[in-house]
Amino acid sequence: MMMPGRVMLVDDEAMVREATSQWLELSGFEVEAYEAAEAALARITPETDAVLLTDVRMPGMDGLELMREALQRAPDLPVILLTAHGDVDMATDAMRAGAYDFIEKPYVPDRLVERIQRACEKRRLTLENLRLQQNLASRSGLDARLIGISPAIQRVRNELLALAELDTNVIIYGETGTGKELVAQCLHDYSNRARHHFVPINCGAIPENLIESELFGHEAGAFTHAAKRRIGKFEYASKGTLFLDEIESMPLNLQVKVLRALQEHQIERLGANAPIPVDLRVIAAAKVDLRDDPNFREDLFYRLNVSELHIPPLRERIEDVPLLFAHYVHRGAVDHDREPRTLSDHDIDALQSYAWPGNVRELKNIAIRYAIDPRASLVDLLSRQQQMQFKPVVTRPNLPLAVQVADYEARLIREALEKHRGNIKAVMEALDLPRRTLNQKMVRYGLNRADFTEE
Ligand SMILES: Nc1ncnc2c1ncn2[C@@H]1O[C@H](COP(=O)(O)OP(=O)(O)OP(=O)(O)O)[C@@H](O)[C@H]1O
Ligand SMILES: [Mg+2]
Repeated sequence: MMMPGRVMLVDDEAMVREATSQWLELSGFEVEAYEAAEAALARITPETDAVLLTDVRMPGMDGLELMREALQRAPDLPVILLTAHGDVDMATDAMRAGAYDFIEKPYVPDRLVERIQRACEKRRLTLENLRLQQNLASRSGLDARLIGISPAIQRVRNELLALAELDTNVIIYGETGTGKELVAQCLHDYSNRARHHFVPINCGAIPENLIESELFGHEAGAFTHAAKRRIGKFEYASKGTLFLDEIESMPLNLQVKVLRALQEHQIERLGANAPIPVDLRVIAAAKVDLRDDPNFREDLFYRLNVSELHIPPLRERIEDVPLLFAHYVHRGAVDHDREPRTLSDHDIDALQSYAWPGNVRELKNIAIRYAIDPRASLVDLLSRQQQMQFKPVVTRPNLPLAVQVADYEARLIREALEKHRGNIKAVMEALDLPRRTLNQKMVRYGLNRADFTEE
């Protein structure tokens, strides 16, 4: 049940005022009654959490003027006018001047309650949207970058600021799309290394034969295609921050080389004779606990895991969803030159009951689609999103093998599309599929590249 809300009632006639107050209070409203328009007006601010119910004919400032003045101070304030029977012309003028509603006296009490209730609901939504916007505007520094009001995200922000100063290696843990790279970038930006480079490396994605020259560089002529000297990522990151993304997918032979470089604080370019000193802070990101991973070297783990930072999934900080969504709807509208769209109560409920398996990245994509297409309903976008999530194969053991296989295939392709943000070439490589076959399969499974790309 919705709270009925507050009413500012203005009527110069004591009898009417008291009777109306009493009726509204019995119906659950909080009532502030005023004998004169001026007194009510003095209380109105843009944040006034009430609706204004006023008589029109009053000595001194009348109801219409009160309305005009009130709307100057609180542009969206719902104003309901109590008009004398038959005063239709005045009522139409008033509606044109911005009145929310008018009610003829003598009024039918139940109808009055119903209409005030609607006005209160509207007021609540206006204030909610205002609050979201102000929240966005007033946030500066870290809370403007790592958005959220939940205790969990506040804890992440505080830990981040404390760790930024420490200069120790950090592993950031979190599910896909929770903001690991964003947090790593912030750790760098708020550290003493901020003036130097932040260098991300995707540990699973570098082709085996390029690893050494990518990471450590090479001299001209070091191998057949090495025409020019190349500075590797480790050297480039020196004095700055090296971000080892998806560290759990780092091949064992690479782990050995990385460990050695970190232990010795130096690297060797391929084909060079002398080692080069490097001053590195390493931030790594992982989706799984590396302690349990037999394929990850313990010595490297302990070198990296000096500090840990855990980012909880969005479903465990659902309070953050409306704010994050409003943020990205706003950004989508600005970037694509669209009219701003607001959210209804129903929308906010829908957003908060969705599970967000793709976390903030998924939310951001939906928010931007919502901002761009004024006809898209949020509930439709969310249910489409839900349909795209396939049930795990194990829950459908009674289906024919072919169906289970197809299910599994669709899921793998979908996961690859997610992982590579809709980059078809990367998916072709990851799954070792020719373009034509991939296209056919995507059509068959209703997978749409655009649903995976990131703004
Ligand atoms: N708290 C937040 N406030 C604002 N934007 C956020 C927040 N968390 C994540 N994002 C945004 O969500 C998107 C995904 O975040 P990011 O790439 O950092 O996730 P990730 O954990 O590295 O994901 P993956 O494991 O899939 O690589 C980015 O566009 C990022 O800017
Ligand atoms: Mg990432």
